[in-house]
Amino acid sequence: MSLTTETDVAVIPNEATPERLDFHQTIRRSTRPCHDEVDALFGQFDLADRSAYADFLSAHAAALIPVEEWLQLASLGLPASPRSNVLRADLLALGRPQPALNPLTWPNREADRWGAAYVIEGSRLGGAMLLRNVPQDYPRAYLGSVHPSGNWRAFLAALQTRANEGGSSWQEDALVAAQRTFTLYRDSAIAMGATLG
Ligand code: HEM
Repeated sequence: MSLTTETDVAVIPNEATPERLDFHQTIRRSTRPCHDEVDALFGQFDLADRSAYADFLSAHAAALIPVEEWLQLASLGLPASPRSNVLRADLLALGRPQPALNPLTWPNREADRWGAAYVIEGSRLGGAMLLRNVPQDYPRAYLGSVHPSGNWRAFLAALQTRANEGGSSWQEDALVAAQRTFTLYRDSAIAMGATLG
C-alpha cells in the first residue's frame, strides 16, 4: 500500500496527531519513494502461501536482525522491544533456517541510529494490515508485533526532540541513514526473488 496521498501532503499516522512533528514530516517525505519501493517489492510475496511467506520473513530477517544488532534500540533511551527473536521463532516454526546475516559497518553516530530506528519501528505500522493475509495457522508473531498503544507517538516525539537538539547536520545524517536502511530491505527482498518493475 502506497503512502502517497491525493494532495501529496504527508499524512501523520493517527497516533501522532494532533501535534505536527516537523522532522517527522521531513523524514517521511524524503523516504516516501523508498517506502513505495519496498512496499512494491514485499507486496510480491503471497503471504497465504507457506513457502512465499517464509521467503518474505527471511528477507525481513536478513535486514532487521543486523539492524537491531547494530542499533541497540535501548541505547536511544527508548522502550526497547526488538523483534529479532520473534522473527527467528516464526522462521523456525516454518522450518526455514535463519538467512545469512552480514554484520553492518554503518557509521555509529547517534543520528544514524535514530534514522535507522525510524525505519524499523515505522515498519511495524504496516504489520497489522499485512497480517490479514496470513492464515491463522501460520506462525504470525513477527507481523503481529505491532506498537503497544502510544509507542509510535512517543517515538516520534523523542525523534523530534533529538532532531531539534542536533540541528541540520544531525538531521541530514538521520535522513541518509533512513534511506540506507530502506535500501537494505530493498536488497533483501530482491535477494529473495522480488523484482523491480
Ligand atoms: C508490503 C509491505 C508494506 C506495506 C503494505 C506497508 C504499509 C504501511 C502502512 C499502512 C503504514 C502506515 C501509514 C500511515 O499510517 O500513515 C506504513 C508506515 C511505515 N512503513 Fe510500511 N509497509 C510495508 C513495508 C515496509 C517496509 C519493508 C518498511 C521498512 C523496513 C516500512 C517502513 C515504514 C515506515 C518507516 C512507516 C512510517 C511512515 C511514517 O512516518 O508515517 N514499510 N507502512
